Amino acid sequence: MNVGEIQTFEHDVLVIGAGGAGLRAAIECSARGLNTGVISKSLLGKAHTVMAEGGMAASLGNVDRRDNWKIHFRDTMRGGKFLNQWRMAELHAKQAPERVRELEEWGAVFDRTPDGLINQRNFGGHRYPRLAHVGDRTGLELIRTLQDHGVHQGIHFHMECTALRLLLDSGRIAGVAGYWRDTGRFVLFRTPCVIMATGGGGKAWNVTSNSWEYTGDGAALAYEAGAELMDLEFTQFHPTGMVWPPSVRGTLVTEGVRGDGGILLNSKGERFMFNYIPKRFASETADTILEADKWPDDPSARRPPELLTRDVVARAIRAEVQAGRGSPHGGAFLDIASRRPADAIRRKLPSMYHQFKELAEVDITTTPMEVGPTLHYFMGGIRVDADSQQTNVPGLFACGECAAGLHGANRLGGNSLSDLIVFGRLAGIGVAAYLSEQGTTPRADDAQIIAAFREATSILNRESGENPYLMHEAIQDVMSSNVGIVRTGEELQTAVEQLEALKTRAKSLKAPGTSQYNPGWHEALSVKSLLVVGEAVARAAYIREESRGAHTRLDFEGERDECARFNVVTKKGPNGEMQVEKVERPDPPQELAAIANATLEDLEGGKVG
Ligand code: FUM
Repeated sequence: MNVGEIQTFEHDVLVIGAGGAGLRAAIECSARGLNTGVISKSLLGKAHTVMAEGGMAASLGNVDRRDNWKIHFRDTMRGGKFLNQWRMAELHAKQAPERVRELEEWGAVFDRTPDGLINQRNFGGHRYPRLAHVGDRTGLELIRTLQDHGVHQGIHFHMECTALRLLLDSGRIAGVAGYWRDTGRFVLFRTPCVIMATGGGGKAWNVTSNSWEYTGDGAALAYEAGAELMDLEFTQFHPTGMVWPPSVRGTLVTEGVRGDGGILLNSKGERFMFNYIPKRFASETADTILEADKWPDDPSARRPPELLTRDVVARAIRAEVQAGRGSPHGGAFLDIASRRPADAIRRKLPSMYHQFKELAEVDITTTPMEVGPTLHYFMGGIRVDADSQQTNVPGLFACGECAAGLHGANRLGGNSLSDLIVFGRLAGIGVAAYLSEQGTTPRADDAQIIAAFREATSILNRESGENPYLMHEAIQDVMSSNVGIVRTGEELQTAVEQLEALKTRAKSLKAPGTSQYNPGWHEALSVKSLLVVGEAVARAAYIREESRGAHTRLDFEGERDECARFNVVTKKGPNGEMQVEKVERPDPPQELAAIANATLEDLEGGKVG
């Protein structure tokens, strides 16, 4: 193989992933005069960002003037069970409003309040109506706006292109080896900076809101290049995915349905969430529960128990099903029909209306939906510096879902879209600063480029071997059976052992055919990433001996102070194997700790911060 003959692009920075974070990062880089490339596994516009349907959280204060960044920060920290990186939560809460207004300037068409401001809806764990939204298609509108803005900035988009390996020069980023998914031809990107924006790895589970692209590639590529991963054990099960028919199981049913007044019922018609209010929230929630019945228009009706955080609601649905009070297909009923007029449902939740009509033959304006938990989001990911989004590998940055820190142990709905636009921009600024300090340009040697391509072709070239589709299913079975909404040490140990066995088998994956238009080959290449993230999640979950946020251990009830640490995963074991370490979490500055711990009365009364 002659490297000189491989198609080559040169960029100042290459963004991997074209969801909200990747696009926002690329826009920032390009606006700062950098030659910016973006590669994406699929076509532009097809990102998990569109699955954040209900809105983006920002304390604009348009619907309730009492809202401000401090209360958003406090909600985010509390939702994350205080495991969030303080600085990221601060930057996010402070900068989200400006980023939302910027999107509006760039053409995003938000729903409006009667007096013409950007409208905001309720979502779980947010004290005030805070989610700027476009019906139930907010993520889609965000992507559309960023794409429209980005394509006119001279960004080079490389679509249907998969990254195989990050290339290094003395530990610094020097490029990316990749291939075109349609032709199977290899491609080389020479660049001193990479921004990872690849989303999560939901496809390691068999019921997920994630589409085929989400195989944990960013975390796996970064890990292989020496980056640290953090807090992978915190995987979010969104409480409401479709459960029927089987072909669409896991497809997201936006929290906006509950935000707009939808309630959860069991097979006996009982509104069961009242029985699952955690003691520590009882007073804050209970005072508004009765008022919740004044819906639709009373703004004080803001905290129905269906809007407890996602971990609580997902566990409650699971418990109802286990107690024999589930819906016919193993979920719960989500009823908006009895709470809102049909025309309001069609107007505020048009995608949900069509989704159920077309996919399940259910009219949600007359009939409750059947819903159940679906793996939706990774709170953990690549460890980054809060301000610059840089990793421990010089030249490697990460933002959005594939980066860790903002959400701690549990993400509040709507904080994902604001995460993308706040930290996508900061990653772009971080790259510009990094480049301005670099002297020499790193250059990847031919040996590692050839090794990356040979490893990929070995899957095609062996005579026989393991079937990649069956291997992917086996990974999903291990993760779904042992690393679910609730976990035990025994199950997690089983998961680690089974994944080890699958790793050995994966060394002989075989995809028949040539590299052109070969889905079996694509599948085989993503198995490697799935195994890295699956193992990282299982190992980190095993050593976290407590229940916190989205990580529930049946054998370790409740949070433990000594566990308020980060779990850092590296490839630094004695033989290059995966290693998980508990790392001290720095104390927050006093003023932020005071805000996070303040009572609402003090915060709203201006007595803190
Ligand atoms: O339910 C939803 O619309 C999802 C939003 C999110 O994950 O942020």
